[in-house]
Amino acid sequence: MPIRITKLQEMKAAGERIACVTAYDFPSARLVQQAGFEVVLVGDSLGNVVLGYDTTIPVTMDDMLHHTRAVARGAPGLLVVADMPFLTFNVSADDALRNAGRLLQEGGAHAVKLEGGAPVAGTVRRLTEAGIPVMGHLGLTPQSVNQLGGYRVQGRTIEQAQRLLDDAVALEAAGAFSIVLEAVPAELARIVTHRLRIPTIGIGAGPDCDGQIQVLHDILGFGARRPKHAKRYADLNETIGTALAAYAQDVREGKFPTAEHTEPIDDAVLRELLSAIEPTA
Ligand code: KIV
Repeated sequence: MPIRITKLQEMKAAGERIACVTAYDFPSARLVQQAGFEVVLVGDSLGNVVLGYDTTIPVTMDDMLHHTRAVARGAPGLLVVADMPFLTFNVSADDALRNAGRLLQEGGAHAVKLEGGAPVAGTVRRLTEAGIPVMGHLGLTPQSVNQLGGYRVQGRTIEQAQRLLDDAVALEAAGAFSIVLEAVPAELARIVTHRLRIPTIGIGAGPDCDGQIQVLHDILGFGARRPKHAKRYADLNETIGTALAAYAQDVREGKFPTAEHTEPIDDAVLRELLSAIEPTA
C-alpha cells in the first residue's frame, strides 16, 4: 500500500518532517524508496537535469508520462507526484482534468503538482473534486521564469509576501493537499506553514516548512547545477567520471573483458568448429 496524502497531513499534525526528493527513472526511484522517503516527485526539472534543456518550458506530457511510469514502477510504496508541464493545466480546467487524469491513469502517479496560486485555484478544485490530489507550488515557479525575469527569490516585498500568503490560503481552500514553497525567505515560509492546515514542502525556503524537497541530481552532485539551497551529499560527477575513464582505458589497453567476464565454449565444440573452418591440407 503506497503512502497516502492523509499520511502527510498526519505527519504535519504530529510535527514530523516530510522527506521528499525528485526522481526520473526506475533505478533512482528504487533507491529513493529504499532510503525511506515519503514522497517522490517526478518534477518537470526533468527538462533541466535529464533532458538538457535550459528551462522546464519544453517538457511535454509525453516526457512526463514516460518518466512517471518508470518512477511508479521503481517506488510502488511511495506517494508518487507528477508535475503538470507548462500550459497543460492553465488553458482550461477541462484540459487540466484530462492531462492530470492521464498522469494517474497512464503514468501511475498518485497525485499531480501544478504551479501557481489564486488564478489556478478553480482548476485545483476541479481536479480534487474529480479525485485527483493536487500539490500546489508557490514562490519561484520555474515555468514562469520569463515572466519573473529569472530564477529569483520571491516574496521579499510586502506586496509579494501578502500575495503568496493569499495564494497559499486559496490553494488550501481549493483542496490542495500540500504546497511546495520554492525560493522564498525563511520567515515567510514559516508564517505560511503556521497559517495552513496542509503541509508545506520547502526548497530554498528555510527549515520551518513541514517537509523539504530537493532535486536528486543537485544533492548527489550529478550534473552541472549547483543551486545555493542544495547541499551535496555525494559527488557522482567525480565517481561516474572516474569509473568511465577507467573503463575506457581498460578497453584501449585490452584489459577488459578478461576470462572472468567471458563465456567459454566446450572443447569438443571448439575443435569441431576449428576443423570446419580450417582448410584441410
Ligand atoms: O520540478 C521540480 O523538480 C520541482 C521541485 C524543485 C519542487 O518542482
